[in-house]
Amino acid sequence: MGQTVEILTGKAELCRSIMGALPDWFSEPEVIEASAQAVEELPVFGYVEADVVTAMIALKPHLPDAVEIALIATRPEYHGHGAGRHLVDAAERFAQEAGARLLTVKTLAPRGRDEPQFEATRRFYDRTGFVKAEVFPKFWREDHPCLFMIKPLTDKQPGRTAL
Ligand SMILES: CC(C)(COP(=O)(O)OP(=O)(O)OC[C@H]1O[C@@H](n2cnc3c(N)ncnc32)[C@H](O)[C@@H]1OP(=O)(O)O)[C@@H](O)C(=O)NCCC(=O)NCCS
Repeated sequence: MGQTVEILTGKAELCRSIMGALPDWFSEPEVIEASAQAVEELPVFGYVEADVVTAMIALKPHLPDAVEIALIATRPEYHGHGAGRHLVDAAERFAQEAGARLLTVKTLAPRGRDEPQFEATRRFYDRTGFVKAEVFPKFWREDHPCLFMIKPLTDKQPGRTAL
């Protein structure tokens, strides 16, 4: 059993290390480097098991109402062991403490190819409570359709109207 911790230093290096171990998902070095630079400026949480950061999540606040999962990734040898779910839980706590009512994420939409790894990612979001909001066919680029997913959060603040 591990624990979730906020990562305060070494975010870019952690990002390079985990994304670099997932070539089936992240095959372009420039995408990894851009992500590594971006996470330096974002709140990042890691899931730590036996002194290894086995998974990370980077959050982009769009306050007052939403927090976006900018990146979530689990080291391949730890897939399916619960780290990703713990990090979505951490994102939910972060969002609720910030007063937000939605968690959001953008991921690759189905595009008529045999890509079980991206299907698995969509399944993960499905299993962790996200719903498919809309597909934006050209949001990233022509052959890279974006699926926008959201997870409404339970309103725990007194005096606010629940969704
Ligand atoms: C997506 C990812 C972060 C999930 O992390 P994980 O630590 O393996 O996820 P968990 O073990 O916490 O799984 C949580 C739930 O998702 C489901 N799930 C995870 N991987 C799955 C898969 N390959 N196929 C189907 N369901 C899957 C689990 O069954 C679990 O559901 P359950 O508790 O109801 O059984 C991980 O697979 C990953 O790093 N993928 C590559 C990077 C990526 O796709 N990032 C997102 C880019 S938008």
